[in-house]
Amino acid sequence: MNKIICSDYNEVCAAAADIFAQQLSLKPSSVFGLATGSTPVGLYEELKRRCSARELDFSKAHAFNLDEYYPIEKNHPQSYKAFMDLHLFDEVKFESTQIPNGEAADPHIECARYDAAIEAAGGIDLQLLGIGINGHIGFNEPNTVYPVGSHLTELTESTLIANSRFFGEGEKQPETALTMGLGPIFNAKHILLLITGAAKAQVAKKLFDGKLYTDVPACFLLLHPNVTVILDKAASG
Ligand code: PGA
Repeated sequence: MNKIICSDYNEVCAAAADIFAQQLSLKPSSVFGLATGSTPVGLYEELKRRCSARELDFSKAHAFNLDEYYPIEKNHPQSYKAFMDLHLFDEVKFESTQIPNGEAADPHIECARYDAAIEAAGGIDLQLLGIGINGHIGFNEPNTVYPVGSHLTELTESTLIANSRFFGEGEKQPETALTMGLGPIFNAKHILLLITGAAKAQVAKKLFDGKLYTDVPACFLLLHPNVTVILDKAASG
C-alpha cells in the first residue's frame, strides 16, 4: 500500500488528479471507476480545470460509478447520476459513462448486467474510492459475509446518518442501494483511496496498523497489490 500524506485537502485533490493524468497518458481509453460523496468533489473540480485548460482529455475514456441509491429516479437531485452530472460529466466528456440504474425493475438483474459491462470493458484500470467513517467502500458495509459481485444492499445506520446531510427536510432518504461488490473493485489494476478530514482519522488508523479488521471493508485493500492511499494531515492523525 503506497501512502501519500498531503498537508491539506487541496493538495490531496491535486495529487489524485496527477494520478488520473498519468493513467490517461498511459492509456487514453482507460476505464475509470468513479466515486461520489464529498471527498472526490475537489478532485473533480481539478479535473474540470485541467480539461478546460486542455491539459487532460477523457474523450476516449470510460467511467463506471461505484454505486447508486435504490430505488431512486435518475433525475432525483440526490441520485448519484445527478451528482456525477453536476460535479463532472456535464463538463468532462467521456466516451462512455455508466452508473448502476436506480430505476431498474429488478435490482439483481441490474447488478449482473453491471458486472458484465465492467468485464466487457476489460475491467477497471484506475478505481477511485472514498471511505465511510464505518470503513465502507462503495456501499460495501461492515459485515461478516461480503457478496463478491455487485449487489443490492441495506445501508447501515451510520451511513444513513452520515448521508442524511444531503437530504432536505421531508425528503425521503433511500435505505437501500446498488453497489459494485468487492470483486469488481479488487479486479481494478490500480486503486486510489482518498481519506480526508479528522472524522476519518480513526478508520484510517485501522487501515495502517498492520491487521485486517474484517468489519472494516476497506481493510481488504491491504491484500491488493497496487493501492495508493492519499490522506490529508487531519485524517492521518
Ligand atoms: P464522504 O463519503 O466522501 O462524503 O465522506 C465517503 C463514502 O461514504 O464513501
